[in-house]
Amino acid sequence: MNPIQSVLITGANAGLGREAARQLALRNGIEKIYLACRNLEKAEAAKTALEAETGKRIFEIIIMDVSDLSSVREAVAGMKSAVDAVILNAGGTGGRRPNALTNAGVTNIFAANILGHVVLVDELLERQLITSTVLYAGSEAARGIPKMGVAKPDMQSLSAEEFAAIADGSKFGQDADPLDVYSYIKLVGAHWMGAMARQHPHIRFVTMSPGGTTGTNGMDDLPFLKKVFFKYIGGTLMPIFGMMHSVETGARRYVDGLLNEKFESGHFYASREGSPTGPVIDQAEIDFTLANPDFQDNANQAVHRFAA
Ligand SMILES: NC(=O)c1ccc[n+]([C@@H]2O[C@H](COP(=O)([O-])OP(=O)(O)OC[C@H]3O[C@@H](n4cnc5c(N)ncnc54)[C@H](OP(=O)(O)O)[C@@H]3O)[C@@H](O)[C@H]2O)c1
Repeated sequence: MNPIQSVLITGANAGLGREAARQLALRNGIEKIYLACRNLEKAEAAKTALEAETGKRIFEIIIMDVSDLSSVREAVAGMKSAVDAVILNAGGTGGRRPNALTNAGVTNIFAANILGHVVLVDELLERQLITSTVLYAGSEAARGIPKMGVAKPDMQSLSAEEFAAIADGSKFGQDADPLDVYSYIKLVGAHWMGAMARQHPHIRFVTMSPGGTTGTNGMDDLPFLKKVFFKYIGGTLMPIFGMMHSVETGARRYVDGLLNEKFESGHFYASREGSPTGPVIDQAEIDFTLANPDFQDNANQAVHRFAA
């Protein structure tokens, strides 16, 4: 694998994406970092702050809303050179109306966490604008975090139909809790990455969870009481009980996943069973269905139904 010199990060103006940009800028050999953000003002503020914090002027803004497929396509069409790596980091709980459908027929929460990234990767591959590694922000929620009351997704058949029902929300209904839906969506993402790894062996596709991370805006769109509970109460208490870590630690997982080739293509890395923090392991050791090529292909087929 050629050394990674340029990295595009989605959702790079805040939280884990912004911190990954900062850490990467300080690594030897990284010459260009594209901050792919949906809001120009926030992107410019992040770029100015990152330049001041790192002393590097290697950041370039790309305007991209990953919930809007035409925005993703326009952004890629405007790229003047290839990137070595991309961190598919944008995501979260899907804004104020997570279960509402986008023009593509998927829920907002699915669009932000997966569909835009599917189209981004397809476009980069088709135009030969990616040379080395795709890293997807997974989550321990995809295999359940019992300690935090997050149930393992209740999958029945792992068929393309079941994955598609996660994408369009029909598996859950209009009033579904975005935190429950989120677990299923991150599971689809890990399966999709597994299929892409087999289809495109010249590119490394690594799913890496940043782990339970405090100090980000990830809970801001939840209803008020849940936001207070998870962001402020949980954000204070969980690190004390070893159930969350800092944004620096979370983003370091991305950087390791990107730059350390011991993390293998097609695999999903996250914390050990039961835990949202600590060392990472291959999640197929916890949930063997993650390594099943048929299930991976079903997820890939399902997400591409909406990516036309
Ligand atoms: N924090 C955790 O404990 C944790 C654990 C496991 C996985 N993750 C995953 O890590 C990733 C980053 O989370 P975070 O905690 O850093 O959240 P965050 O602080 O809310 O940051 C999310 C970033 O994504 C951007 N974003 C959201 N929707 C977007 C869209 N449609 N188009 C473009 N950018 C968009 C946000 O931009 P705006 O500022 O414009 O909203 C922001 O820059 C997510 O995928 C999340 O699921 C987080």
